[in-house]
Amino acid sequence: MDTNNSDSSRTSVLFVCLGNICRSPLAEGIFLHLVREAGLDDRFEIDSAGTGAWHVGERPDARAAMVASKHGVDLESRARQITSDDLKHFDYVIAMDRENLRNIGRMVDATGSEAEVHLLREYDHSSDGDEVPDPYYGDASGFEMVYEMLHRSCLTLLDRLKAA
Ligand code: 4NP
Repeated sequence: MDTNNSDSSRTSVLFVCLGNICRSPLAEGIFLHLVREAGLDDRFEIDSAGTGAWHVGERPDARAAMVASKHGVDLESRARQITSDDLKHFDYVIAMDRENLRNIGRMVDATGSEAEVHLLREYDHSSDGDEVPDPYYGDASGFEMVYEMLHRSCLTLLDRLKAA
């Protein structure tokens, strides 16, 4: 059995943050939107998860949903916590910050995962940092800044994965 991807014709991408109610659901929604716009739905499997469990089952934060909707993007996810099976299943695991990356790294070591693990902002052409900052304790302007960062990064990520 191919444990790295249950449907090997699709490239599977999992976006990961801490709570799975702000950054990673936004990244998932934006990437899905770009994939649909490009008519590539049948080439990708896209999901998101959090390293923490506090918000499991919840819809995205209202401020995340608001900024997404302002840009014509729907957020369809419900929060869930990342599992070891995710590390075996997804081809790409994309972290929002270095703390997420460290936690994913521990799971990779424990599971022998062959997933490609990256920081999302490796794909951001602007050079003002390598993390997507956590907007949870801030205001709506933080969510707009995070949206722009995620959008820039997802555009480049899709270009790379399309070509892969
Ligand atoms: P996220 O933001 O990791 O982008 O979903 C957070 C959401 C909730 C919490 C922290 C970050 N929290 O501590 O509850």
